[in-house]
Amino acid sequence: MNTINEILNKKGKEKITMITAYDYYTAKQVDEAGIDMILVGDSLGMVVLGYDSTIKVTMEDMIHHAKAVNRGNENAFLVVDMPYLSYNVDMTESLKNAGRLIKETGAQAVKLEGGKRSVETIKRIVELEIPVIGHLGLTPQSVNAMGGYKVQGKEEIQANEILEDAKLLEKAGISCLVLEGIPENLAKIITKELSIPTIGIGAGKDVDGQVLVYYDMLGYSEWVPKFVKKYGNTKENHINAIKQYIDEVKKEIFPEKENIYKAQSKIK
Ligand code: KIV
Repeated sequence: MNTINEILNKKGKEKITMITAYDYYTAKQVDEAGIDMILVGDSLGMVVLGYDSTIKVTMEDMIHHAKAVNRGNENAFLVVDMPYLSYNVDMTESLKNAGRLIKETGAQAVKLEGGKRSVETIKRIVELEIPVIGHLGLTPQSVNAMGGYKVQGKEEIQANEILEDAKLLEKAGISCLVLEGIPENLAKIITKELSIPTIGIGAGKDVDGQVLVYYDMLGYSEWVPKFVKKYGNTKENHINAIKQYIDEVKKEIFPEKENIYKAQSKIK
């Protein structure tokens, strides 16, 4: 299994690949494909549970899915998201929740959103020897405060705030930083200023690695943001396969000979 040191050592040498997974078979697939890191993202609230944001995702949801992913994963470094309000409300609760995610699921690191406001929590989690991945820019758990899913850091003042936050998080002890929905030149500056790897999603090319949501990049999702490249046409392929199954059952083509059990002796 990849260790945090192997991930950190890739900075400046090779790009880091990360993808989300939420269940056993997906984990097996992405691991077999050779991904460096798997993220059990709280995006599962939207792509698996059908919510319109990540706000409703619970600790129990994250633990349930992360356990399944861990059972399917052999080699990738496994990260699990801390869901909305499971951290930063009460320090003891935050530490217990980070610990549960690691102990109960087998994940190797937790990811949490936010800059300044998350620094104290991050320091304490890192003291417990739990690797932490930061997340800045368009942070989906802030959807209500941001007034929607909007690219962040387009204006100089906000860009400087994100850069300052990135430096604070590095000082607090994060191992990697996810940069979501920010201009490419800001991501480039942050990547240059930090000694830890940056992993971009909608942050352009000049980062140390890329992450995409499994369902978006494989073409399941109805709508995807501009930064997603579709590497598959899964929704269409699956619908066509299911249509063929329906048709074959109706026409009595399925089950075929090889799908049918035979008794060894005659049954009266
Ligand atoms: O929840 C998630 O899938 C994420 C990625 C978009 C980085 O946080």
